[in-house]
Amino acid sequence: MSKITFYSGEVVPLEMHKVRIVQKLDLVPIERRLQAVAEAGNNTFLLKNRDIYLDMLTDSGVNAMSDKQLAAMMVSDDSYAGSESFTKLENKIKEIFGTEYFLPVHQGRAAENIISKVLVTPGSIVPMNYHFTTSKVHVVVNGGSVDEIIIDEGLQVTSECPFKGNMDIDKLEALIQKNGAEKIAFVRIETGTNLIGGQPHSLENLRQVRKVCDKYGLLLVFDASLLADNLYFIKTREESCQNKTIREITREIADLTDIIYFSARKLGCARGGGICTNNKDAYMKMRELVTLYEGFLTYGGMSIREIEAMAVGLDETMDENMINQGPQFIAYMVNELVKKGVPVITPPGGLGCHLDAKQFLPHVPKTQYIAGALASAYYLVSGVRGMERGSISEQRDENGVETYANMELLRLAMPRRVFTLSQVKYAVDRILWLYQNRDLVGGLTFVEEPQILRFFFGKLAPTSDWQEKLAAKFRADLGDSL
Ligand code: F0G
Repeated sequence: MSKITFYSGEVVPLEMHKVRIVQKLDLVPIERRLQAVAEAGNNTFLLKNRDIYLDMLTDSGVNAMSDKQLAAMMVSDDSYAGSESFTKLENKIKEIFGTEYFLPVHQGRAAENIISKVLVTPGSIVPMNYHFTTSKVHVVVNGGSVDEIIIDEGLQVTSECPFKGNMDIDKLEALIQKNGAEKIAFVRIETGTNLIGGQPHSLENLRQVRKVCDKYGLLLVFDASLLADNLYFIKTREESCQNKTIREITREIADLTDIIYFSARKLGCARGGGICTNNKDAYMKMRELVTLYEGFLTYGGMSIREIEAMAVGLDETMDENMINQGPQFIAYMVNELVKKGVPVITPPGGLGCHLDAKQFLPHVPKTQYIAGALASAYYLVSGVRGMERGSISEQRDENGVETYANMELLRLAMPRRVFTLSQVKYAVDRILWLYQNRDLVGGLTFVEEPQILRFFFGKLAPTSDWQEKLAAKFRADLGDSL
């Protein structure tokens, strides 16, 4: 990985690309943001792009594409069956992962639907390092259950553990022995573990998981959606891998797993998704479902243009100077906040920067949705849109009683190669201002609460006039600044 040391000693994440197409942004004044947040029911999913300055909701489908990806999209071979573009992608997957069979799907959760339908039976268990929302629901709707066996450090907000996404191997063995191997549908490892702050697992941990799977004859399914970040962390944090190339590490990972699936909205900066395997039996079963739910086997619900972009994007992911941009920008943001004492998940992971709302707003009771309140307050003072990852993202139990999340986080995702460092500095600056004025932030209460996936559509209102007071303080401190 090219190492560039600044003479000044400052640590700066230097971009290894130039920006040649841009999209205009607006930053509306705080008075408009106050109206916009009310119109959106304090739910950042319901804000409109025209009211947003930096969209840090997600890194899904919003990463910048390269010139080579765009060029490839122009020469795609469109057809229902037998597309040359699909063959190109199939060959690229074979080259990178060494897998014989490839099934295209329209996005990551479609792969989860197909894998779960084939492998999960009622009463079966899927041990995982940690769940992702859609991965868990697909297991549950097929009658299975999820058992999360992340190492203890994984759930500690601040830590120096380089691989908080590791699976606890002793817990895996104990779980299999307690339930019997026949009850385990498959073991799932999520790379770049999303919901605990984009935290990586090590290659060594994967080797150990493989050993246990071999011992009990279990399939190992690997969610590679956040593989790019995890590859960077293996290369930079795992001593035994420092002389390996990204391609070698990728191939070693692939050789340790039975089924790889991914959201190409993340991996490869494109759209769509796929399932890769050398297991012919599983492939034959999944193949039927792809034609049923996704489309014919040479497009799987994707446009052919996306398939071309994916083939190029996956190849570019093998370039260290491409995959280091996200983690380095995130580390910059996290480290700037740590310096000022703002509570964030450490060490810096992939995906984005995660603020710990419980420590940020200790005076807001959990009944008033701490992370949701922080997401709303932060949008108000900055025009930056983050995502609540706390109790609003959970759902009530069957008796209508709230189940509060372990962690109350505000996720600020870092779409790759999209923002400049001055924009990241702006995002940090407004967090620092909000932290100084955190006593002014109050809670939220539901005014419209859907029963399912309430975080997408639910609407909330502030518990007092705290938002007007926060906006007035902003004006008093920052004058006529937007
Ligand atoms: N697995 C992981 C680890 C993910 O992060 C996602 C999506 C999926 C599977 C599902 O893929 O969206 O293409 O269907 N994560 C997005 C996010 C939604 O914002 O973190 P998908």
